[in-house]
Amino acid sequence: MKRSKITIIGAGNVGATCAHWAAAKELGDIVLVDIVDGLPQGKALDLYQSSPIEGFDAQIVGTNEYGPTAGSDVIIITSGIPRKPGMSRDQLLETNVKIVADVTAKAAKESPDAVLIIVSNPLDAMVYTAHVVSQFPTQRVVGQAGVLDAARYRAFIAAEIGVSVEDVQAMLLGGHGDDMVPLVRYTSVSGIPVTQLIAPGRLDEIVTRTRNGGAEIVNLLKTGSAYYAPAAASVAMAEAIIRDKKRVMACAAYCDSEYGVGGFFVGVPCVLGRGGVEKVIEIELDERERAMLDTSVQHVKDLCKSAKQYLPK
Ligand code: NAI
Ligand code: 2OP
Repeated sequence: MKRSKITIIGAGNVGATCAHWAAAKELGDIVLVDIVDGLPQGKALDLYQSSPIEGFDAQIVGTNEYGPTAGSDVIIITSGIPRKPGMSRDQLLETNVKIVADVTAKAAKESPDAVLIIVSNPLDAMVYTAHVVSQFPTQRVVGQAGVLDAARYRAFIAAEIGVSVEDVQAMLLGGHGDDMVPLVRYTSVSGIPVTQLIAPGRLDEIVTRTRNGGAEIVNLLKTGSAYYAPAAASVAMAEAIIRDKKRVMACAAYCDSEYGVGGFFVGVPCVLGRGGVEKVIEIELDERERAMLDTSVQHVKDLCKSAKQYLPK
């Protein structure tokens, strides 16, 4: 069977860690791209040299060019600047729209059939940017945020109750901002509603910590943002696509009539398979959840409007 090919753009903290998770899972051959000469080459070679120890078979190539990325099945875009303490994700907009637009154009030209997984921040505006620039069908452009945010939420719940993280299931809606919408009503522990296991006030605290999960790590690291869990989340999405698993994951997907969004990429439950986003699942929301989603979607729309001015003419 022909191996899949995964391109990862940006060989920094998130990109290199994506390469690590993808190699360990034997998802396919990997091309790591960065603008800095030597960085992707050095990290790719180092990672490749770990393969006899860990026992995975994958070609891992580092490059500053796009030729070697040709024919990729999945492209994960992580290039761009991360935030520092005190910065919001939105303050990265101008720099990262230009970077994401540039790398998307080059990568899309070499791999016209790929699925693009966008990671760079501010996430929802970067997915929009990648879609405008690539002109790929909306099903093949998706953003990673919800898998990470849900993982943070699940981890906090598991730690609170003292149960396995594997047994905590959760769904989140909205943008990858502080106004994301963790859905307490849809959170369960092996089918038991979480509201029967954690008191409402404590659950509110966990939701708030989840919303601020990115900032919590930025404040601890001081020089950059999280990367282990973001990379694991991005590679879980790549795996669902490459292995056609039809996993149901919270992803930034194109919604038009769905949730009444009107043509933007926002976090919603999706079925991820070989075609990319194969379906957006619409779930019932109560008034409070609907209002929170509307606020988050409005924020995404405002961000995309601002992003437009930095897009290539
Ligand atoms: P980093 O600074 O460690 O790595 C970024 C890499 O991008 C650097 O190696 C840099 O040289 C490269 N780069 C910059 N311009 C480039 C270009 N034109 N072409 C190719 N490579 C280029 O940053 P880190 O921590 O890896 O974060 C990357 C991005 O991902 C940031 O925007 C960050 O905010 C975002 N992020 C998003 C998450 C999410 O859940 N969606 C979670 C974590 C980070
Ligand atoms: C995070 O949530 C920085 O968006 C990134 O950790």
